[in-house]
Amino acid sequence: MTYAAGIIGVGCYLPEKTLTNQDLEKMVDTSDAWIIERTGIRTRHIAAPSQATSDLSYEAALRALADAKTKPEELDLIIVATETPDYKYPSTACLLQAKLGAKNAACFDLSAGCSGFVYALGIGSQSIVSGLYKKILLVGAETLSRIINWTDRNTCVLFGDGAGAAVLGRVEEGYGVLAVDLGADGTGGEHLIQPGGGSRNPASHATVDAHDHTIHMNGREVFKFATRRMPNACKTILQKAGMTIDDVTLLIPHQANRRIIDNAINRLKIDRERVWVNIDRHGNMSAACIPVSLTEAQEAGCLHKGDNVMLVAFGAGLTWAGALVKWAK
Ligand code: ACO
Repeated sequence: MTYAAGIIGVGCYLPEKTLTNQDLEKMVDTSDAWIIERTGIRTRHIAAPSQATSDLSYEAALRALADAKTKPEELDLIIVATETPDYKYPSTACLLQAKLGAKNAACFDLSAGCSGFVYALGIGSQSIVSGLYKKILLVGAETLSRIINWTDRNTCVLFGDGAGAAVLGRVEEGYGVLAVDLGADGTGGEHLIQPGGGSRNPASHATVDAHDHTIHMNGREVFKFATRRMPNACKTILQKAGMTIDDVTLLIPHQANRRIIDNAINRLKIDRERVWVNIDRHGNMSAACIPVSLTEAQEAGCLHKGDNVMLVAFGAGLTWAGALVKWAK
């Protein structure tokens, strides 16, 4: 016996403090005009010093659980997709389990960069389809502000902090996750990397001095990868689902750069009105982008039962991930 798996609740949390392009003009050699023209970003949220990724996750999770009318004890599994865990270990998912009192849930973190939430959706939904689990909490959460080199204008203008969550459960046949495409090209790993702090370059005074604990990015290579992989992933998913782009009610792409999103719109030949864009307000929140967007889209009344929602992302790894979800709420 198999079951249909779908999203039954969503929620998000964005820290109160914001950092505008004008604020950044005072920190590095950049300008509001450059950032808007090259990325589309105007402002981003920054976590308070007392907040770590599990704190942001907790707030988003509470909202998603309320939306799903689900109690923490009902959760069988918690997956937190993040590149900025509170600690190397224990996992942020375990910390979140303790905060929520979700004592029946197995827990793990998932590292797939900005594709992490869609990876979690793909893997999590199969655990429901197979009958292994009934309810799963997926979280995409980041405090990227903690791993940014605030003196590097190439990267510090791009990122923001935030968290989004979704509860997965059994839904009516024909609804929920219809198709998934997960992939990676590990040969591009060096293009987006936090080189210090792991077993290759353990933390030392030298790694701190060299900013090895911050994001190192070859923006042009990542840009090329993204413009190729995102549209390809969408086409693969549509093929798997037996649909065309005209059947997609809403496309939620990863929010890394407005120009990457525009490129995908052109390649896929989808109307702009059917593409969710919030990069101007949040910047790139890595794994949090898609669940935050889903929550905002639901709150804006843009998601209705039966809508075909396409999610697509790319990120560190390099990875890509796409999913087509028939909205079941
Ligand atoms: N302000 C002003 N000038 C800048 C800034 C800035 N903030 N940043 C770079 N520049 C300069 C560069 O130094 C360069 O100057 P030069 O020509 O004198 O050397 C010039 O602008 C052009 O630089 P490019 O790198 O060619 O700029 P580009 O138009 O490619 O935009 C960007 C750079 C925004 C980083 C783009 O390449 C991009 O978005 N790449 C993808 C990034 C991405 O998706 N990352 C995902 C990370 S997600 C994760 O997993 C954490």
